[in-house]
Amino acid sequence: MDFELSEEHRLVRQTVREFAEKELAPGVQERDEKQEFPYEQIKKLGELGFMGVAIPEKYGGAGLDSIAYAIVIEELSRVEAAVGTIVSVNNTLFCEGLYKFGTEEQKQKYLVPLASGKGLGAYSLSEAGSGSDAAALKTLITPDGDHYVLNGTKMWVSSGGNATHYIIFVTLNPELRHKGICAIIVERETEGLKIGKKENKLGIRSSDTVELIFDNVRVPKANLLGGEGEGFKIAMNILDDGRVSISAQSIGIAQGAFEAALKYAKERVQFGKPIIEYQAIQNKLADMATEIDAGRLLTYRAAYLREQKKSYSKEASMAKLFCAPMANRVANQAVQIHGGYGYLKDFSVERFMRDAKITEIYEGTTEIQRIVIAKHLKNE
Ligand code: CAA
Repeated sequence: MDFELSEEHRLVRQTVREFAEKELAPGVQERDEKQEFPYEQIKKLGELGFMGVAIPEKYGGAGLDSIAYAIVIEELSRVEAAVGTIVSVNNTLFCEGLYKFGTEEQKQKYLVPLASGKGLGAYSLSEAGSGSDAAALKTLITPDGDHYVLNGTKMWVSSGGNATHYIIFVTLNPELRHKGICAIIVERETEGLKIGKKENKLGIRSSDTVELIFDNVRVPKANLLGGEGEGFKIAMNILDDGRVSISAQSIGIAQGAFEAALKYAKERVQFGKPIIEYQAIQNKLADMATEIDAGRLLTYRAAYLREQKKSYSKEASMAKLFCAPMANRVANQAVQIHGGYGYLKDFSVERFMRDAKITEIYEGTTEIQRIVIAKHLKNE
């Protein structure tokens, strides 16, 4: 057992950290305020190979491993969690999905450009009536010659307004529940596809979240991912990866909030000495640092198992079950350490606290992670 990062992993961490501090930190507050998408920054991340971190080079990716990928998401989220979301959705929910389930033709056509940052991917499972109960989705897919026709409305699509391509989950017949679900690649410019309402969110505000409306959208049959009725398992399999990714995002948010709190505690003087000299503050900082380390170990273990081609679905959910609430606890304490200043938008901890909340909701709520873990335990 080796707890040290490899030379390559350390280099990845250093490269992404430098990028985040130089390219993300200066505009993060303003983008958050205005809900402004970081176009330039995402373009640069694509040029650096970070839009397809663990995708092999022959498919346009950087050819790194799952731990390197977790480090990338962690470091981006340490400065701007919303960039962590955009990069995570493209890497995991779109590119990894295509890499695992796509045909060679689909990979050449869609994976190669998107893994190299020439385009942006999104993944759309949820609908107004199907969030945690993903198998209840109702957007229809109907075969028509060598095409399918899509009709319905998807919701909460991260990056949906800026994406060039989507993996959309649709059903042949809602009564079939998970057995009727199909996954299909849809290009943004397809006739009948409209971007609906852009949501006004609590956190990760520079990442856009939209509705997608399908009005008789015709998509070639060649764009089906896997077979008819295999979409639910594809969605769940992709989400196993996504849950490692959101755990990494949670660690990044927690780390960013912790570092701000530690710095503030050393500088802030009350009753004649820096507040870090008080045990009440020391206790908070000690708990925060310990929780972040515990989350990091759970996340890297899930990434390691994935890399070893072992089962990691349970471990991915365990990492997310721990890391998402942990990021919320840590960011909350970081605000508390800052006192009144922490409640102001001038300080980053307020944003970290808002950004942390989504990690307990998307890609499976904390409650859903417990269901997934318990299902695995029953079968052991
Ligand atoms: N990999 C492959 N197959 C899987 C799987 C996995 N991880 N998990 C389940 N399956 C298979 C099961 O084996 C089962 O197969 P059989 O029919 O052969 O038996 C089938 O899928 C159905 O499984 P369940 O009976 O467990 O399905 P369920 O309806 O009870 O749901 C659930 C299980 C865990 C609650 C699931 O619905 C779930 O994860 N819900 C949460 C959905 C979610 O995470 N949504 C997030 C939206 S995406 C998002 O947030 C993206 C974004 O924009 C950032």
